[in-house]
Amino acid sequence: MFRISQYMRELDKLVKGADAVLPPHRQPPGPVVIWNLIRRCNLTCKHCYSISADKDFPGELDTTEVYGVMDDLRQFGVPVLILSGGEPLLRSDIFDISRRAKEMGFYVGLSTNGTLITRDNIHRIADIGYDYVGVSIDGLKETHDYFRRRQGAFEESMNGIRLCRENGIKIGMRFTITMDNAHELPEMLKLMEREDVDKFYLSHLNYAGRGNRNRKDDAYHQVSRDAMDLLFDACWDDVQAGRHREFVTGNNDADGVYLLFWIARRFPEHVEYMRARLEQWGGNSSGVNIANIDNLGNVHPDTFWWDYHLGNVRERPFSEIWQDTRDPLMAGLKARPRPLKGRCAECHHQSVCGGNTRVRAWQLTGDPWQEDPACYLTDEEIGVEGTSERLRMFPYSRRSIPEKYDFQ
Ligand SMILES: C[S@@+](CC[C@H](N)C(=O)[O-])C[C@H]1O[C@@H](n2cnc3c(N)ncnc32)[C@H](O)[C@@H]1O
Ligand code: SF4
Repeated sequence: MFRISQYMRELDKLVKGADAVLPPHRQPPGPVVIWNLIRRCNLTCKHCYSISADKDFPGELDTTEVYGVMDDLRQFGVPVLILSGGEPLLRSDIFDISRRAKEMGFYVGLSTNGTLITRDNIHRIADIGYDYVGVSIDGLKETHDYFRRRQGAFEESMNGIRLCRENGIKIGMRFTITMDNAHELPEMLKLMEREDVDKFYLSHLNYAGRGNRNRKDDAYHQVSRDAMDLLFDACWDDVQAGRHREFVTGNNDADGVYLLFWIARRFPEHVEYMRARLEQWGGNSSGVNIANIDNLGNVHPDTFWWDYHLGNVRERPFSEIWQDTRDPLMAGLKARPRPLKGRCAECHHQSVCGGNTRVRAWQLTGDPWQEDPACYLTDEEIGVEGTSERLRMFPYSRRSIPEKYDFQ
């Protein structure tokens, strides 16, 4: 995850005269665990990495097993649990698990499609004291309903957001950008403003599950760049206005490098320091600071590696599986630098982006260390010889953008 607001606030302090002193680099005690507690879902979204659907998936971890894993995670130093799915609110013990997680001292987030948050359960949700609830909104009404493949989903999800707001819950909108919805990003930011939402999370498409099957709809490189320009400007304006909303992105660590280019244009005197700060962040942290446990107890380097199993918590504790670098993928993900190939191997910004998203390289080529096709930086920008055509390219097929596409 790339926290734009955090870096924009630091930049703002520098611009106002603060000393450029790098804080000590802290390694979190354990990874953030995103836990898909259930695969069942009332929606069947076009991009869903977990290929969820409205049916039972046998063999899911039961309450006692979940509690056992939580004990191990706590003892291992995991600071954050993001409870996800499928649709986590379909799990009958979701509030018991959530309450226990809070009592154990985890930072607890709920990742939901929001359609099942109603007047009937909002008080139970509020009583848990979730640190954060993220609701997916993938466009305005028509686009969202198309993307999430259900008429009326937008209204239900927005209702969920409003109920959370009314009950004082920190709420975020999560928007996965593709060619279906990129043109609505400006309207999404207005919606965020109107609905007084605390956080905006722009997720780039990852090639997993239905997202992999539909990867032909991934955003063109230039479209991703335009989206980031818009988000950086919105975030900077927010910081200048003294507001405390958060803007974050996920699944494309080129965003960190692209922010440096934005800073270089406006505040060249601060680029060097900000580069050092972003090197501390280090970009992609799959297999290091981000982990995933699926509904059956399988452990993965992150949520998008569902086709790659590191082990199962029914057979070995998570803490053991996570530290075992006999697995070649884990060894490579934990290595610094990572054993990258192609243009990623030669890139001048590798220390910032960490090699970006390995799962996309793997899905396209079968080799997790090949270049990330969705890196939207030009060859010139990353310091390699190549073509300037990249901006007009489509990450998956490398087809050119149709002339008729209007970026504005
Ligand atoms: C799998 S969902 C589970 C929680 C809940 N059902 C929801 O939709 O928010 C978690 C998040 O992952 C996002 N997501 C799913 N598939 C994705 C993909 N292929 N690439 C990027 N984000 C994806 C969803 O949009 C959602 O914000
Ligand atoms: S993205 Fe979320 S809401 Fe959509 S099908 Fe997957 S789990 Fe369900």
